[in-house]
Amino acid sequence: MTETLAPTDAGLARAAALLAEGELVAFPTETVYGLGGDARSDMAVARIFEAKGRPRFNPLIVHLPDLEAARSVGVFDDLAERVASAFWPGPLTLVVPLRPSARLSPLVTADLPSVAIRVPEHPVAQRLLRAFGGPVAAPSANPSGKVSPTRADHVLAGLNGRIAAVVDGGACAVGLESTILGLVGAPAILRPGGIPAEALEACLGRPLASGGDSAKPTAPGQLLSHYAPTAPVRLNASQPEPGEFWLGFGPEAEGADLNLSETGDLVEAAANLFHFLRQADASATGPIAVSPIPEKGLGRAINDRLRRAAAPRG
Ligand code: TXA
Ligand code: MG
Repeated sequence: MTETLAPTDAGLARAAALLAEGELVAFPTETVYGLGGDARSDMAVARIFEAKGRPRFNPLIVHLPDLEAARSVGVFDDLAERVASAFWPGPLTLVVPLRPSARLSPLVTADLPSVAIRVPEHPVAQRLLRAFGGPVAAPSANPSGKVSPTRADHVLAGLNGRIAAVVDGGACAVGLESTILGLVGAPAILRPGGIPAEALEACLGRPLASGGDSAKPTAPGQLLSHYAPTAPVRLNASQPEPGEFWLGFGPEAEGADLNLSETGDLVEAAANLFHFLRQADASATGPIAVSPIPEKGLGRAINDRLRRAAAPRG
């Protein structure tokens, strides 16, 4: 059962403690309810994808209480500083270069060198982020493909029993997701939302490229620039060929060079995926052979990522 917590000091202390244990807590922001997890914990972020039933590891927004905290996660140039100072806290997400010392789970950024950061204005979100004291990854708190929730009972309708708790902060005022402004390369709106493009253009003093959807990138390299191993990748390998590095999954993969999850746990496998792909690439002297991963639950997102790693590249 999912706990419903009141937005009191005691309720928020409980929510922060659950986040610190790697549990998932939905909370209100002025846009929509977010499904929060510790952005530094591979297992917590893997659980976000599992709870939502997302079929792929698209990058998540990292929530922080203020610009100062945001600077420890992303790199802010003059332009980013100007927009952040003008619109934060508020319904604006900025995509900026990832600060290497941020120590976020690579699942949060889908292993991209950039990070999406938001400082929400909602007082309950503010208090929760300060009580927790770390970066919170949070997509909208709905099952994948369903409408975003703007009330605690909407969250429960979709996710009851799948998350530890929801903080009930009443109805969200904006009711529409944050605007996402990409500031890696030429500034561009990656997703329209709570802050209109005109307001951003006035602040930046220049027109913005628009029509971009970061989930379905039109500009090449936006999301397609995922880290790809340099070694060739062979999928559905129940056994390695001589000279291959074996990235295994489950008890069947006994003797694998690395095992995504010896017990066959898909959440653990998702949590390990990006780390192990890098380790395999660093150690492999030939191709990387990957065990079959069941095409169910998080296995679909893992397979989606592995197929991209195995795809021919130019
Ligand atoms: O209003 C909101 O933004 C809500 C509340 C909960 O804060 N959050 C939300 O998060 O909508 P989510 O995870 O559903 O949206 C993430 C979006 C995706 O479209 C993703 O592609 C984009 O942000 N995104 C995240 N990181 C990115 C990156 N490094 N580069 C480009 N796009 C990125
Ligand atoms: Mg969403």
